Amino acid sequence: MADVDVAPTPRPGADPSSGTAPSSGPASPQKTIVVSGIQPSGTLHLGNYFGAIRQHIALHTRHEAYYFIVNYHALTTVRDRDALERYTLDVALDYLALGFDPNAATLFVQSDVPEVTELAWIFYTLTPVAQLEKGVSYKDKIAQGLSPNAGLFNYPILQAADILIYGGTLVPVGADQKQHIEITRDTAQRFNQTYASPDDPIFPMPEPYILDDVAVVPGIDGRKMSKSYGNTIGIFDEGKTLKKKVMSIVTDSTPLEAPKDPERCNVFALIKLFASEERREEIAAKYRAGGYGYGHAKKELYEMISDFFAEARERRRELARHPDDVRDILREGGRRAREQAAPYMERARRAVGLITTY
Ligand code: TRP
Repeated sequence: MADVDVAPTPRPGADPSSGTAPSSGPASPQKTIVVSGIQPSGTLHLGNYFGAIRQHIALHTRHEAYYFIVNYHALTTVRDRDALERYTLDVALDYLALGFDPNAATLFVQSDVPEVTELAWIFYTLTPVAQLEKGVSYKDKIAQGLSPNAGLFNYPILQAADILIYGGTLVPVGADQKQHIEITRDTAQRFNQTYASPDDPIFPMPEPYILDDVAVVPGIDGRKMSKSYGNTIGIFDEGKTLKKKVMSIVTDSTPLEAPKDPERCNVFALIKLFASEERREEIAAKYRAGGYGYGHAKKELYEMISDFFAEARERRRELARHPDDVRDILREGGRRAREQAAPYMERARRAVGLITTY
């Protein structure tokens, strides 16, 4: 794991540091280039926020960063054109509302840099099928008795291209992406070994950046919060919707008067993510003392979530009124990303012997 620290749970978008415009062109080897892809697969939830988004936001003003909405990847599962368009723009709104500063870093749509699929093709030709057969999401599909499409099979290699085409060196992701980053590293090494001289590699070796302590955010049924379990609380849920979800978090049947163990409670696990250390201790003490019910804890949690995302919610409403501005931001991001990708792509094409005659 890379040695970078992220401040604990700042409010989204709080205290935005003044941005510096990212420079273009290939990076010098020691410069940190942060890259990460975001799935446009529907409403982002608290698991996404504490698993990845928070790190994305924390890192994007400290280094040169490229974040992209992975609509090519989404095509492996989404079959609805309108939904894909909507989800893509929604993720942009979400990130901007949560504090992404487009003057400090680059946010764009993956398919605005179509060269990434070209690089993926070059990588396919170097990748043993046996390695992709070990892919976890691919194996999952097989285990479920589904027949995965070739896009899903090749998904990790497109992800490798995503990272390497910008010279990415640091990849903030959730713990479930470990394998994909390893495949990316193997791919970089294979490419460099085959086509570059050892003292002048074409692609730098990326490092994953995974925060272990927030690996699991429980959903309302107590299992890991995940869209596929239908147990999520949305980042932008509010009012009645939010209250209903929080109130339905599964707890045991310890009576109100009895002392409770906070560490065995799903509500407390979520409270921990939002509360200051002091507040956390206060609430834990109330659990242990008895006379404090799960209903009390839920009410507390509801208020914490409402409050934590209040400004982001307001910003999102404002941004949603100006969809053209959001498109402009993405367009400019795509332009910068293409500029960053160009020299890597150029070197890669030349290295493998693809001549250009146009
Ligand atoms: N596979 C990642 C996920 O499901 C999304 C992704 C695509 C990605 N390309 C990437 C993440 C490049 C990091 C870097 O979350």
